[in-house]
Amino acid sequence: MMSIKEQIKQAIEQLVDPSTQKTLGEQQSIRHLAVDEKDSIVTLIIAIGLTKGPEEKTLSRQLAKLIKIDYKFRGIKLQFEQLPSKEELDTPAKKTTYIAITSGKGGVGKSTVTANLAVALARLGKKVGIIDADIYGPSIPHIFEMKKEGFQLASNNKIYPPKAFDIPVISTEFFLENDQPLMWRGPMLNRMLNHFFNDVEWDENLDFMLIDLPPGTGDVAIDIQKLIPEAHVIVVTTPHPTASHIAVKSGYMAKNLNHHILGVVENMSYYQNPVSHAHEAIFGSGGGELVANALNVDLLATLPIGQPQNNLSHSIFTPTEEIGVAYLGLANKLLKAFK
Ligand SMILES: Nc1ncnc2c1ncn2[C@@H]1O[C@H](COP(=O)(O)OP(=O)(O)OP(=O)(O)O)[C@@H](O)[C@H]1O
Ligand SMILES: [Mg+2]
Repeated sequence: MMSIKEQIKQAIEQLVDPSTQKTLGEQQSIRHLAVDEKDSIVTLIIAIGLTKGPEEKTLSRQLAKLIKIDYKFRGIKLQFEQLPSKEELDTPAKKTTYIAITSGKGGVGKSTVTANLAVALARLGKKVGIIDADIYGPSIPHIFEMKKEGFQLASNNKIYPPKAFDIPVISTEFFLENDQPLMWRGPMLNRMLNHFFNDVEWDENLDFMLIDLPPGTGDVAIDIQKLIPEAHVIVVTTPHPTASHIAVKSGYMAKNLNHHILGVVENMSYYQNPVSHAHEAIFGSGGGELVANALNVDLLATLPIGQPQNNLSHSIFTPTEEIGVAYLGLANKLLKAFK
């Protein structure tokens, strides 16, 4: 049985936006959909080609009929948003390859991998940007030890993304007061991501944009992935087999969204005993391979447990440290994949 939410979603996707003559499904108009069965209310944010005109009125009537008459909800909260124009969709850049880092489970090292992979790609001469899409738990600025400074504005009023290690980064962290929790919900989150794409002055010549996804396979991650055009996905997992099923799930989700899975990175794979140099499988073994097999993709890297042993940063490895070399290997594999 399909859930009510799924039924409503499918019904909405059939409606046609009069300003574009496309179905709402085709143009991915549903920016937010929450179904509150207890209070009998449906909350919607719909992006259409032309807002504030007769087209919006027509759709507004059709949606109200659908929710209140067909599905018998008491109330509908409806908001319209402007779809980005074609030119806007073409930026940040057509040549940029988007790579989202996902895991399903939290705390497996997505953000650490994102930051170090970005640095490794940059060391190989590529132009890389990072979108920290972990809206509720942003950590890229911490990993890069970025200081909070004001934004520089471009002449078109877009903001220049702050840089660390020569890598432009955007993160909700930059918009927060010190250590304040973020109380935003879905709709705000979607808007924040739109800002990250459309109101930030990204270099048109970026080769790669890495996107650090939040943990989980829930609605949030789905919303985020929908906003990302033609994303490739790297699944990060730990070696413990029992932790791998949730990573597989996040991979399936990416597949369902027609995103291409590049492969799996197994993080915290082993500990290299500093005396005997033996590899000790502290957190179990086989998880990365399990996930790669389940998703029918390659295991791209196995990264050992370890912290940077340098004065550069508490989370970024130098290119000569063992783990730094492993990151260069991963970056090289990606460059080959996109040649
Ligand atoms: N290979 C590793 N060896 C040792 N510690 C690691 C390794 N990778 C990550 N860590 C540490 O594990 C913690 C979690 O890493 P990180 O924040 O990158 O994970 P995450 O998957 O992004 O977490 P979240 O789900 O909270 O976003 C951090 O303290 C990080 O320094
Ligand atoms: Mg993280």
